[in-house]
Amino acid sequence: MAGRLQDKVAIITGGNSGIGEATARRFTQEGAKVTILARREEEGYAVQKAIRAEGGEITFLPCDVTDRAAVEAAVAQAVATYGALHVLINNAGGGSREMFPAETDETWERVLKVNLTACFLTCRAAWPHLVKAGSASIVNVSSLASVYGVSEAVFERSPLLPSASYIAAKAGLEGFTRYIASIGGPHKIRVNCVRPGQILTRRLATAAGEHVFARHFEMWQLLKGPGYAEDVANAMLFLASDESRFITAEMVNIDGGAAAKL
Ligand SMILES: NC(=O)c1ccc[n+]([C@@H]2O[C@H](COP(=O)([O-])OP(=O)(O)OC[C@H]3O[C@@H](n4cnc5c(N)ncnc54)[C@H](OP(=O)(O)O)[C@@H]3O)[C@@H](O)[C@H]2O)c1
Repeated sequence: MAGRLQDKVAIITGGNSGIGEATARRFTQEGAKVTILARREEEGYAVQKAIRAEGGEITFLPCDVTDRAAVEAAVAQAVATYGALHVLINNAGGGSREMFPAETDETWERVLKVNLTACFLTCRAAWPHLVKAGSASIVNVSSLASVYGVSEAVFERSPLLPSASYIAAKAGLEGFTRYIASIGGPHKIRVNCVRPGQILTRRLATAAGEHVFARHFEMWQLLKGPGYAEDVANAMLFLASDESRFITAEMVNIDGGAAAKL
């Protein structure tokens, strides 16, 4: 039986861990040919090896997605390897522990670059290939943090506080998504965001413990349990596939209902 992404070619940034790795696995299970981009090579080749052993078609390319030349080279190589490009997942990202007003210029710029500028670079490099595909999907990974208000409650809400730079970058990413969706419409390029809440990735569970989000989901989620990388991957599978062919410029919360309590 054909998979839900049978013969689609996808690029996933930040595919060597967490949500990106889970998405790469899910996409290959559904028949996609996937290229993952990230900086840490050991982790990247380990994911490539594991998914190939499971029968998936996947290639890891070392790439800093904030580097324009590296992004252009990686997109060209992915297209040369698999012959086309139908799906772009902008997942690479990360925050900072520096809280305003202590956050430095360097941190602000680093966080803006990886969460926002990198998406501009990948979209621009991928655009001609997505147009040529005749029908394509971009999914950007935002965050529930993009819609946080400013209140004491925000600081009670999360054990891992989002920095000013992270909130600004993810909110900017959502504006960028709507803009690109408007440019993409005539080319049948759909552009959406997923907005994860607190997702218990292996990295977070190792760094902060299995129960790091217990207070968050007790206080803020409607569903009282952790979300996992696979939950985000499943939503991205839907948005990447033709099943969502009439959905664009949409922000999809994957947060156990936390946004309903904001
Ligand atoms: N986990 C959550 O609760 C949560 C909630 C909301 C939103 N998100 C978003 O979900 C996305 C994935 O996060 P995650 O939780 O899965 O974290 P993660 O495991 O730390 O994954 C982050 C990924 O981004 C890559 N990356 C970072 N900087 C990069 C750069 N300059 N060039 C290329 N790749 C880069 C990392 O690989 P290298 O370091 O090897 O480059 C890694 O693969 C992020 O955009 C994050 O903001 C996560």
